[in-house]
Amino acid sequence: MEHSIALVTGATSGLGQAAARLLAEEGWQEIIVTGRSLAGAQQAAAQLAAENKTVIFTPLALDLDKPSSVQSAVAELVKRGRPIDFLLLNAGMVPGKRRVITAAGIEASQAPLIGHHQLTVGSLDAKLLSPDARIVIAGAEPARGDVPLFKLTNVTALATTRYQGDRTAAVEALLRNGPNIKYQANRAYADAKLVVAWWAAALARRLPSGMAVYAVAPGAATDTKVSRNAGWALKWLMIPIVKHIPGMNQTPEMAARRYLQASKFGTDVSGQFFASAPKKFTGRIEAMRQPHLHDRANQEATWQAVVKVSGVDLSSVRPASPAAPAI
Ligand SMILES: NC(=O)c1ccc[n+]([C@@H]2O[C@H](COP(=O)([O-])OP(=O)(O)OC[C@H]3O[C@@H](n4cnc5c(N)ncnc54)[C@H](OP(=O)(O)O)[C@@H]3O)[C@@H](O)[C@H]2O)c1
Repeated sequence: MEHSIALVTGATSGLGQAAARLLAEEGWQEIIVTGRSLAGAQQAAAQLAAENKTVIFTPLALDLDKPSSVQSAVAELVKRGRPIDFLLLNAGMVPGKRRVITAAGIEASQAPLIGHHQLTVGSLDAKLLSPDARIVIAGAEPARGDVPLFKLTNVTALATTRYQGDRTAAVEALLRNGPNIKYQANRAYADAKLVVAWWAAALARRLPSGMAVYAVAPGAATDTKVSRNAGWALKWLMIPIVKHIPGMNQTPEMAARRYLQASKFGTDVSGQFFASAPKKFTGRIEAMRQPHLHDRANQEATWQAVVKVSGVDLSSVRPASPAAPAI
């Protein structure tokens, strides 16, 4: 892939900003940086431009909680009419003690995926992605199911006990955090990143053959704003302790580098979830093999639930052939 145009969501702080900086160092010609407001995106673009004068940083307003904002962003990209080679869907958040539901009826930590889905489908339908484009979406280690304090919901069991076996309805309940779901911040976050991994697997089966998508856990990087809403146990107990334990924390640049690494992976591993080795939070990334991540019925249920909740599905895109391999 020629280093031409990349789009980074959530580039106003943390890993998004670090990724934009790394892409500039790698020689990308234009990096579109998004923020919830145009002013925020402009500020991020100006800061990055001051550091690297050879690259164009283009600000774009994108509030993933608001379908109208995503539509405007896609319309703006269509107007510019230049194909995107690397779509880095980085924006995300750890939810707080108080349950937050967006105006569109989505739990706040699930909302970025809905907006990212609208952006991705909008870009594909408008032929805004280059034929060998790479899409990376931010996952997180809790989706592995082995992180203390971050329990995952068993979607198959939820579907069986509460939704007459309808897994799409069960995933929709996670996206909306109800009915039949008790809000617990860490579980909501772990579930949100599990849904991200399933969505990436389902998208891979629908992409044109030259393109690829990966869910990538950047790993632990506590020097970002990611835990700003987190409960006291995570914010004042777990993070301050783990950041001093060797191998439990890394710089935002090291974490963001994982996104760039994945952008060079082949189509043969499209749809997979890359994260730190089991029970680890830094170091090398590898394709995750836990069976729950490869549950094809839940991956497809996720796609259907996200389509239903977002109101957006692929129309004109030719599906990849053959289907992306499962491990
Ligand atoms: N740092 C870590 O240890 C870690 C570990 C695993 C995974 N991750 C993932 O890495 C990604 C980046 O996190 P970070 O550590 O860089 O956190 P951060 O410093 O809080 O940055 C998150 C970025 O996403 C944006 N954002 C969040 N929700 C949004 C929405 N609904 N619409 C538009 N923009 C939104 C934020 O904008 P605002 O400031 O306007 O909200 C901000 O620009 C997230 O997906 C996170 O879950 C981080």
